[in-house]
Amino acid sequence: MTAVGIDAIEIWTGKLKLDLPNTFAEKKGEDPEKYRKGLGLENSSFPDVYEDIVTMGANAAKRLMERKGLTPEDIGRIDVATESSFDNSKPVSTYIAGCLEQVFDENFHHANKGERKFACVAGTQSIDDAYNWIKAGRHRGRAALVIATDTALYERGDPGEATQGAGAVAMLISEEPSVVELSTEQGYGSADETDFLKPNQQFPSVDGKRSMQVYLARMREALEDFESVAGRTHPDDFEYIPFHTPFPGMVRKAGLLGYRHMIRDTEFEDELEDEIGRQPREAEYDDWDDYEEALRAYMDDLKETEEYQDWYGRVIEPTLSLAREVGNWYTGSVHVARTSALKHAAETGEELTGDRLLVGSYGSGAQAEIHAETVREGWKEEMDELNIDEQLDDRYDMSFDEYELIHDVHDHEKETDVEEFTRPVGEFTFTGWGRMNERKYEYVE
Ligand code: HMG
Repeated sequence: MTAVGIDAIEIWTGKLKLDLPNTFAEKKGEDPEKYRKGLGLENSSFPDVYEDIVTMGANAAKRLMERKGLTPEDIGRIDVATESSFDNSKPVSTYIAGCLEQVFDENFHHANKGERKFACVAGTQSIDDAYNWIKAGRHRGRAALVIATDTALYERGDPGEATQGAGAVAMLISEEPSVVELSTEQGYGSADETDFLKPNQQFPSVDGKRSMQVYLARMREALEDFESVAGRTHPDDFEYIPFHTPFPGMVRKAGLLGYRHMIRDTEFEDELEDEIGRQPREAEYDDWDDYEEALRAYMDDLKETEEYQDWYGRVIEPTLSLAREVGNWYTGSVHVARTSALKHAAETGEELTGDRLLVGSYGSGAQAEIHAETVREGWKEEMDELNIDEQLDDRYDMSFDEYELIHDVHDHEKETDVEEFTRPVGEFTFTGWGRMNERKYEYVE
């Protein structure tokens, strides 16, 4: 069967940064360690005055197409995943195609375009749509461009303000891909939840603590559902496990839960028995609260074992390095996590071809999806082409007052007149509104 998966990846970060432990925590009178150790964050990315979800997505897509020597004729579909859209009718993919047509000779009139919405899981859903389109044989030899782009901003003063971010991930989905092949098997955990939502409003209504519980519950369901088709998972099966990363501290919790699940009834549980006992089984308890308490105590002990810490350091930690620097990119977040891991492997000279990843996506509202990926031969060349480190180094480091201004600039309810902090070079920029209130863009050489 033909392999279908991710052939190329490009990442575009917002050009401004907010230093969380220093600039943000200091102004809030908080301990910087809450950010570094608790949430696991150093900086978050923000868009400059001339940036938005269209410019970031188009800039990532342009770089990807040029690097792969593609023309619009090679692309049969453009799917944009976002939860930061500014239009309830015209999809962001049309704006991005319009931008790209400013710099490529051909047009995208033949390409099917759309916009996917289901909070942060929509990026993975768009990849699924592209996968199914190719597998169904409807692609006429063309590839799909999937772009996950968001400005993840929260209301000023909301606890979520600590976990903001902005950026885009562009991915080319094709036959015989260079980076990873996707598994046919998938698992879902999906339920009607009101933990994080934006009912016709720009900034989310969030129940932060509950959202974390819902994330873990749906992720667990998805893992069990995945195992029902793919068979039991084992800690040694996967080289890396990239999760949706609203902040690395969340993944710390998901990783522990996943490890506990995977080692149950395995030699790992046996080996740990002398040190921390066996995992509590529900059937052994008459009272649910007692069972939960025993489970919590087991997890606390498990977290401290050398076996778990070694596994976490190898399999999960490398997925978090970019997230620590950029914050939550919503639809792009799990794709940033995958890229972090592969980039780490490339930098440390690891040989990954043929190895497997387990990818855990999540969107509030709520749905988790889990699938496996097999790393393909061209993965390292792709990682070597990334310029994300330069982009991160070049970001403008905002003071708290500048952060307040930039938050206002991107607040749809506010009129502002703020000067840009950086200078655009060789990229798409937002230039203002047209006669029908559409957003206008221009390529700056
Ligand atoms: P908060 O009240 O600002 O923070 O809310 P906190 O007091 O809970 O502290 C955070 C962590 O830092 C805790 O760790 C503290 O103990 C620790 P934990 O106990 O949870 O392991 N801490 C410290 N550690 C060391 N030294 C210290 C210190 N002080 C505290 N001095 C919260 C945090 C995440 C709730 C908030 O930022 C929020 O509401 N964020 C937005 C919602 C969110 O990100 N939810 C995540 C799951 S839902 C999801 O992922 C979907 C999403 O991406 C949206 C979508 O799908 O579209 C959000």
